[in-house]
Amino acid sequence: MDLHLSKKVAVITAASKGLGKAVALQLSKEGATCIICSRNSNSIKATAGEITQQTGNDVIALPCDVTNTDDIAKLKDAILKNYNTVDILFTNAGGPPAGFITDFSLEDYKKAIELNLISAINLIYAFLPVMQKQNYGRIIASTSITVKQPLDNLVLSNVSRTGVVAFIKSIANQYGKYNITANTVAPGYILTDRLKSLIELKAQQENTTYEKALAGFSSEIPLQRIGTPEEFAALVAFLASQQAGYINGQTILIDGGMYPGLF
Ligand SMILES: NC(=O)c1ccc[n+]([C@@H]2O[C@H](COP(=O)([O-])OP(=O)(O)OC[C@H]3O[C@@H](n4cnc5c(N)ncnc54)[C@H](OP(=O)(O)O)[C@@H]3O)[C@@H](O)[C@H]2O)c1
Repeated sequence: MDLHLSKKVAVITAASKGLGKAVALQLSKEGATCIICSRNSNSIKATAGEITQQTGNDVIALPCDVTNTDDIAKLKDAILKNYNTVDILFTNAGGPPAGFITDFSLEDYKKAIELNLISAINLIYAFLPVMQKQNYGRIIASTSITVKQPLDNLVLSNVSRTGVVAFIKSIANQYGKYNITANTVAPGYILTDRLKSLIELKAQQENTTYEKALAGFSSEIPLQRIGTPEEFAALVAFLASQQAGYINGQTILIDGGMYPGLF
């Protein structure tokens, strides 16, 4: 299926590796011009080079810490100066530390909210006006299964990501009339460095091996396996496509069936 992304400009944050990188690669394969960012300038440049080599399409690396308001302002200025448009925005950031309620201070909650909620709001504020002006936009915010099913050892994630769903729903309601769709994707377990470190942590806590801890994670999932970044990216590419124009204000789980509820 041609997703009609070949003339589109896409911004993908937190994209030097993991989920963001997989999304950038997929959108680039579909022909979009991708602008990718992360904090480490060398890593993001290396990733841009790698993707361009694979797809032959332009991938531009701009260093940006999504928790830094000045960085987002600079990102916005550079993109609008050079491309004059943004059609697709994928908001993403690093994950907050894992842990239980007793592990964290108020400061930890504030940091997690800055990282996972305020960054998404700030990015959307930066690119919404141009989408409104051109009467077209696709906003996809990445969160976590924790927005549907809080996980005991991910309390910072549980708290900081639900606001993203509420904000995306508000954008969907108020900007649909400008032909802008806004949706949330909520991954379960997808095999990236972040997940590998969570598996390692579990192995240490349970005094077992990485392989056994991985099997434990997989056994929680009806499909009995961890998802791949490519599977996640395929969902995002579809939501970014012309064909997904009537999907708006939704939270879409990609979790192998792990979420146990009906809705
Ligand atoms: N993988 C999963 O199973 C899963 C499931 C649910 C939710 N999530 C969430 O999805 C997000 C991405 O996870 P991942 O698995 O792809 O992690 P990852 O493999 O560790 O990659 C994290 C990426 O985020 C960038 N980054 C971190 N902090 C940033 C910041 N402040 N500003 C800009 N870029 C930043 C990193 O690059 P730099 O170091 O260069 O900044 C890197 O490119 C995280 O929030 C994670 O908690 C992941």
